[in-house]
Amino acid sequence: MINAVANWKLNGSASFCHDWFDEFNENFHGDRSAVAIAPPAIYIPLCNELKQSNLNICAQNLDFSNETARTGEISLEMLTDMNCSMSIIGHSERRNIFGETSETIKNKLDKVARHTFTSIYCIGESLAEYDSGKSLEAIKNQLDNELLALNTNIKLYIAYEPIWAIGSGKLPSTQEIESMHGFIKETLSLSAKIKLLGIFYGGSVSEENSQELSKSELIDGVLVGGASLNGKSFAKIASSFDKV
Ligand code: PGA
Repeated sequence: MINAVANWKLNGSASFCHDWFDEFNENFHGDRSAVAIAPPAIYIPLCNELKQSNLNICAQNLDFSNETARTGEISLEMLTDMNCSMSIIGHSERRNIFGETSETIKNKLDKVARHTFTSIYCIGESLAEYDSGKSLEAIKNQLDNELLALNTNIKLYIAYEPIWAIGSGKLPSTQEIESMHGFIKETLSLSAKIKLLGIFYGGSVSEENSQELSKSELIDGVLVGGASLNGKSFAKIASSFDKV
């Protein structure tokens, strides 16, 4: 089971990848099969070469269509061809900057469900929804219109990422995260088609807070942006969740 995922977003270069793996390898001594790195897609082959272990390489996004007139996209088949069998789906930056709708995200989940591919499906409420006490409603809407709208069986990880916590240095309390994770588990338990592999928390996870998050039975792992760009910091975060 995976429990620590690095989302490099639009960061990195060939030399960054080399330095990152040097630092991570020096500082992480746990189970590499429980760790995943999501570099920009163009660096997936290089990261696969550098990882020298069973650490997982994850895409940040994929296309769902079987059409080929789709300039700029990368298909699940292409990722598989490059030894990558995992992708983040529905990150709030894809939703908010690139206009991905619930329909698009549902189609991506559907595509993944029909292949031997693992997804880390991201959901989370906005600050306005959080402030007006509508977090549960927002999450329920996303689940209803995306994951629960599928007609296929699916095994997946979910990352609960409140949008207001991403890159802001602000986190919900552990109790708030736990109650949301409990709500997600309960909502999905009603569907026989969904097999939840784990629920991650994402949003301002750092070396400083990962230990506390890892103590919760309801937090199976973390999706880390900013703090994952430093191989040593991410090694420390992943070590907090290491079960070896
Ligand atoms: P952050 O990003 O750790 O920088 O808040 C998390 C994410 O966007 O997945």
